[in-house]
Amino acid sequence: MNILVTGGAGFIGSHLCDYLISKGEYVSVIDDLSTGFFENIVHLQGDPRFQYINDTILNKDRMDSLIQQCDVIIHLAAAVGVKYVIENPLSSIETNICGTEIALKLANRYKKKILIASTSEVYGKHMHAPLKEDDNLIYGPPSTMRWSYAASKLIDEFTALAYHRTKKLKVAIFRCFNTIGPRQTGLYGMVVPRFIQQALRDEPITVFGDGRQTRTFTYFGDVVEAIYRLMKCEEALGKIINIGGTEEISISELAERIKSIAGSKSEIIYVPYEQVYGKDFEDMMRRVPSSEKLNSLIGFVPQTPLDTILEKTVEYFSSET
Ligand SMILES: NC(=O)c1ccc[n+]([C@@H]2O[C@H](COP(=O)([O-])OP(=O)(O)OC[C@H]3O[C@@H](n4cnc5c(N)ncnc54)[C@H](O)[C@@H]3O)[C@@H](O)[C@H]2O)c1
Repeated sequence: MNILVTGGAGFIGSHLCDYLISKGEYVSVIDDLSTGFFENIVHLQGDPRFQYINDTILNKDRMDSLIQQCDVIIHLAAAVGVKYVIENPLSSIETNICGTEIALKLANRYKKKILIASTSEVYGKHMHAPLKEDDNLIYGPPSTMRWSYAASKLIDEFTALAYHRTKKLKVAIFRCFNTIGPRQTGLYGMVVPRFIQQALRDEPITVFGDGRQTRTFTYFGDVVEAIYRLMKCEEALGKIINIGGTEEISISELAERIKSIAGSKSEIIYVPYEQVYGKDFEDMMRRVPSSEKLNSLIGFVPQTPLDTILEKTVEYFSSET
């Protein structure tokens, strides 16, 4: 099969390319390297089953020819990361809404199956767990820019479902929860690479807020396997599906674990949100997925233990520094 991976030079995308190639698939990547890195895919260059195109998904002509040539699109390209979205509000909305619209329109024109990456941010400010795909969504006001990421991905979900309902487009949407592992950059506010790099340098580990906010973390290897299985699953079409680990941990406990695994002398300090993100920032205090739907569709749920993921990621960053 010929698979177009948008955002394939990014963290999840590059691992997905490795996985797809290992399964004997042909892979094309379009990525403008806005947050991705050529180094993530450099090892695939020269493989006859792989091609990389450095361009934006907003280039309709380029997208037209790529989508015409492929069998399936896995659409990952997006403005990602709370810090990145707050610092680049307009371009983030444009990439996430217009870019996805272009991908969907062309997928429909050439009748190609498409999988769309969404996010657990879409759930908003829930306190209950686990989060189910048909839960109500709770956001703050538009003056709080953080919600623009959730809202833009939500528009992607609506548009994808509308194409499915009105045009019978073969589309599935997966909501990733915090995915971590080697190649993830700490540059755009992702907590695990940031903590690990601080720990390895024995610098203060900076917990934003009071550290009581909780998350679950998912190993990239589980995520790419789930995406591949969903791609092959006809019952997933027209559905929204969570992909996430289920081991809940507070961010202050995460800092302690990383410090211990890295054998670090770092002190753990707490920094008010306002100092990091400016006024009007709101965080999500809890985010735990239900994996019921994923399991019923593909018989698989992410289950790599958090300590194992952290050990592998610390090892990766140690060899990088
Ligand atoms: N990593 C996570 O924890 C997580 C959680 C929820 C959802 N997601 C979703 O998964 C997808 C991949 O995220 P990631 O963590 O790998 O982030 P990433 O930033 O590493 O990957 C995104 C890629 O898209 C590329 N890109 C951005 N705008 C582009 C454009 N206009 N044209 C072409 N390429 C463009 C970037 O250069 C980057 O390589 C995103 O859609 C994201 O919303 C990720």
